[in-house]
Amino acid sequence: MEILSHLPENSSLICLDQDPDAIRLSRKRLRSENRVQFIHANFADLGRVMQDLAIDRIDGILLDLGMSSYQIEKSGRGFSFSREEPLDMRMNPDHKPTGKDLINSLSLESLQALLREYGEEQRAKTLAKAIVRAREQETIKTASQLARIVEEATPKSHRPWKRHPATKTFQALRIAINKEMESLETFLQEIPSLMAVGGRLVVISYHSLEDRQIKRAMVQWEKTCTCPPDFPVCACHKAPIFTRVFKKGVKPDETEIRLNPRARSAIMRVAERISS
Ligand SMILES: C[S@@+](CC[C@H](N)C(=O)[O-])C[C@H]1O[C@@H](n2cnc3c(N)ncnc32)[C@H](O)[C@@H]1O
Repeated sequence: MEILSHLPENSSLICLDQDPDAIRLSRKRLRSENRVQFIHANFADLGRVMQDLAIDRIDGILLDLGMSSYQIEKSGRGFSFSREEPLDMRMNPDHKPTGKDLINSLSLESLQALLREYGEEQRAKTLAKAIVRAREQETIKTASQLARIVEEATPKSHRPWKRHPATKTFQALRIAINKEMESLETFLQEIPSLMAVGGRLVVISYHSLEDRQIKRAMVQWEKTCTCPPDFPVCACHKAPIFTRVFKKGVKPDETEIRLNPRARSAIMRVAERISS
């Protein structure tokens, strides 16, 4: 509603989500708004969606990454470690694998790599071993079952302050299942050919892996010459195509975090298209 209230009369708002429930619920909530279109799609496919809608360029994009409160609290898909729900974790239920498929089938080495890479989990090896040991006894089927396995493999001295010990495990599994890093990379590669000059890209991310990827892309877009340093003269003649509106990522202040605790890990980065 807030975004719509700032849009000129003749413009339209296109909302993409890979979760069909998000599309269904949002469509219902904003059914009286004829300037909004809801499309069940991955944002990595934005170029194709624009082609289908005969849109040449976009004037502004807000990418709110991660998972929604609905997915954590109501989807029944095991996004939260505190719930006795099937370990599904797919944002798009048309895709495979599920969390259960992955956690019960990956080799010890792949599980360890997944926890280290996507969870940035320092105890990846110990936790991967505990998961493999547990699944040899019984298939891991639910979110709370996985949470218990990680909790039991984490001595009190290693438990993070104010966080469940399985937080990083759940993050890693969710990122892998939903191919989150791959989708973001595809989106960031396509964006320069999709945005109008003067348009702004706003990205809100919730963990450092995503934020690093976004920052790297924005810094790259802002660069002039990208020739190797030993080139005597510039051969690429690259001009900056975006400028960062804030040089640093913007974080919520204490008041916002008090009102919305789930915003505590959010970082917002904004870039403006300055040339084609
Ligand atoms: C933080 S929530 C957005 C919440 C929303 N701004 C609101 O106020 O209700 C993130 C949403 O992005 C969706 N999502 C995550 N990755 C996606 C992707 N690659 N393509 C499309 N949607 C994605 C999730 O399904 C989820 O509904």
